[in-house]
Amino acid sequence: MSSQVHISSHPLVQHKMTLLRDQRTEPKKFREVMREVAILLAYEALADLATEEVTVVTPLGQADGYRLRGRIGLIPILRAGLGMTEGVLSMMPSAEVWHIGLFRDEETLKPVEYYSRLPVSPTVDVCLVLDPMLATGGSAVVAVDILKRWGASRVKFVGIIASAEGVRHLTATHPDVPLYLAAVDEQLNEAGFIVPGLGDAGDRQFGTG
Ligand code: PRP
Repeated sequence: MSSQVHISSHPLVQHKMTLLRDQRTEPKKFREVMREVAILLAYEALADLATEEVTVVTPLGQADGYRLRGRIGLIPILRAGLGMTEGVLSMMPSAEVWHIGLFRDEETLKPVEYYSRLPVSPTVDVCLVLDPMLATGGSAVVAVDILKRWGASRVKFVGIIASAEGVRHLTATHPDVPLYLAAVDEQLNEAGFIVPGLGDAGDRQFGTG
């Protein structure tokens, strides 16, 4: 697997991933755990963010420190990416959120774009694409295409679960985009679902399955 693919080995992520896979996990709990896993994966994805040195005054003196340099954009793919966004945004409240709406045609499994309102030129330095599922990889490829056409220079993909095929599709099409995931499953069934996977992350978050 490409060195661009980072599958978290953190015990907390693995524990929470198992809760997400469990079909007994109800939407309320599913949303809560997805939010937490998103924070943990984004923490890993943002480990190389640029910082600048600053000095602050503590109650007892002067201390050298750092602050983040550069603007961060969160790009949730509607609708399943919404639950991840809420978690990551709570950790980085000044990030910009730019939504991209894609749904997968059930017959062809190809993504169909239905919402994108990006401004004329990029307003952020790093884009985190958020989508819990990378199945065929088609949606993620199109989302990154849209961001690159926009002029985004640094794009990272933060997912939760992927199929091996989806990982191959995304890394082959966009080799410069690193992937941060909690799990990769070998199988993709004929309906385009990751097996054993966790079901449909959109339906499980929003109780629509
Ligand atoms: C799911 C998921 C991804 C996409 C993954 O969305 O959230 O966006 O499918 O599949 P792919 O890798 O084969 O493109 P879906 O189309 O079900 O829309 P939803 O999030 O609105 O339910």
